[in-house]
Amino acid sequence: MSESLVIQGNSRKEQYLSLLPQLKALVEGETDKWAALGNIMSAIKYGMNFFWVGIYVVKNNELVLGSFQGTVACTRIAFGKGVCGHCWKEKKTIIVENVDAFAGHIACSSESKSEIVLPVFDKKGEVVMVLDVDSEHLAHFDQTDEQYLKEVVQIIEKILNT
Ligand code: SME
Repeated sequence: MSESLVIQGNSRKEQYLSLLPQLKALVEGETDKWAALGNIMSAIKYGMNFFWVGIYVVKNNELVLGSFQGTVACTRIAFGKGVCGHCWKEKKTIIVENVDAFAGHIACSSESKSEIVLPVFDKKGEVVMVLDVDSEHLAHFDQTDEQYLKEVVQIIEKILNT
């Protein structure tokens, strides 16, 4: 395992393409899911220079904060509430260009302006986590982020489901 990531490329796509193989190498052979997930959150946050990156885990019918990198965050989110709870309920990726325009958005930090939340599934197709990525810029996320963050989700699912 290398000690630091080197992210190359000018475009977001190029940067994801640089990040993904390094992310796979980072967690290769690690059998402890929390060790692997902690490093994945750090690699995305610092590799891609996002404001906040973390997972919320489905526990007893609510989302509970798991591994994350960034400023302190709310610890529990109810089913269907906020962007994260909405992603869990709808079982699909949610991209929010302006968090202030999203009804029910849960503001953990006033600096967060846009976000993308993706569901993480178990083998039965149930949502077991959501991956939440926040930016301090408006409209920072689009289909490119969805495409490559889905590849990150696949890495997470492999860790959880094998
Ligand atoms: N904004 C999220 C809450 C989590 S924080 O952004 C870290 C939401 O509305 O669900």
